Amino acid sequence: MNSALLKNATIITASQTIKADILARDGIIEQIGRHLDAADAQSFDLTGRYLLPGGIDVHTHLDMPLGDIRSCDDFTTGTVAAACGGTTTIIDYAAHAHGETMAQGLDAWHQRAEGKAVIDYGFHLTLSEFTDRTLRDMERIVEAGVTSFKVFTAYPGRMMIDDAAIFRVLQQAKEIGALVCVHCENGQVIDALIHDALAAGQTAPKYHPLTRPAIAEREAAHRVISLAEMADAPVYIVHVSSGAAIEQIAQARLRGVPVYAETCPQYLFLSAELYDGIEFEGAKYVMSPPLREKLDQDALWQAVRNRMIDVIGTDHCPFHFQSQKTLGRDDFTKIPNGGPGIETRLNLMFTGGVSEQRISLNHFVDIVSTQPAKLFGLYPQKGEIAPGSDADFVVINPEHETFISAITQHSIVDYSLYEGMRVKGTPEKVFARGELIVENGRFLGKPGAGRFLKRQRSSHYAR
Ligand code: URP
Ligand code: ZN
Ligand code: ZN
Repeated sequence: MNSALLKNATIITASQTIKADILARDGIIEQIGRHLDAADAQSFDLTGRYLLPGGIDVHTHLDMPLGDIRSCDDFTTGTVAAACGGTTTIIDYAAHAHGETMAQGLDAWHQRAEGKAVIDYGFHLTLSEFTDRTLRDMERIVEAGVTSFKVFTAYPGRMMIDDAAIFRVLQQAKEIGALVCVHCENGQVIDALIHDALAAGQTAPKYHPLTRPAIAEREAAHRVISLAEMADAPVYIVHVSSGAAIEQIAQARLRGVPVYAETCPQYLFLSAELYDGIEFEGAKYVMSPPLREKLDQDALWQAVRNRMIDVIGTDHCPFHFQSQKTLGRDDFTKIPNGGPGIETRLNLMFTGGVSEQRISLNHFVDIVSTQPAKLFGLYPQKGEIAPGSDADFVVINPEHETFISAITQHSIVDYSLYEGMRVKGTPEKVFARGELIVENGRFLGKPGAGRFLKRQRSSHYAR
């Protein structure tokens, strides 16, 4: 198989920065040291470049069914976009339909990904209902290498399960060494607010955030943390969007509750005035939770800085603006929820985090790669640069600037949330298990090269 010799790089991991060479063979890091030589290996001179472990995005929705449509990136276009943005592993949310078993849902996701993904992938399993077989089935899913589950306090009638069910899922997760991820918004109150808005003829995209206030997120976060505390189980809160929810997480951590938190670049960089855009433009930003206020961005950045946020995910769930978001032209509740982001996570976080001196390079690596690997049972195979780890690398020229645009992106979606934004940290080269798969924005890999990752238990259980 392949051999690659990466010379003279500045290697950045979550814990250290060193100048060294790396020799990778058969997809695995064999040696790290000075003045390495290997006549049979393809050699790359990385003088002046940062070399980091490949990014890990633990929150994606590729080819996800939603009513009669699907999120528009499949496992090929979505993972090509991920790779071009420096992400070499994803964990996608598999789900089962009502009446279907979890195993059936998982099988369907395997079929979506197999032969299509260009980078390695794992799955979480989303529970769309709670039945008398849920707890038993969770064990089988963990045995199949899917060691995390997602539940919702939002979307009554579709995804929401009640507090007792969440409590039981948390208890069972602790028993079998799994991690429960929770979408925190109070779905019933949101439905009441939506009812009132529609009754008043308020149908434009700008009513999306007004019917999903930050207090609905704070309340659900508080409740879910309390449920986890009563179950004595860890919990991972996905896509935290508000300072109000962060306060709950910070207080819980002070009490010693093992609550882990993820936010996404859209909540750090964008805010709610975008819903007031001309015509139907605001629909581009219809996602749940919605974009918040500038003050929330500040609180989230502060939480990133002080490590109240463990992970940066993307919640990449793209729908075409021209042909899919338009389903809600006359009713904001029919706009498919979600936005793109899989390709821009690293350059946005490098720019807003490292270049703007909010976090160190090592901290950057930690939140985009190492913590995701640890919390979701992939470490040290992924998220680390050490002998024995997979040879997944991102090479960054720290001086190079690019502009984000839908025209140059690799995702199939027809818009970008960050059109025209100037960024640093766009990968110059990306290696996946020792193969060069991206060079200067050009994808060189192949569909089907990505492997399913059977994950171990979360690092939480090693504490
Ligand atoms: O609006 C969003 N975030 N759609 C994707 C599904 C979810 O809630 O994470
Ligand atoms: Zn969610
Ligand atoms: Zn999501």
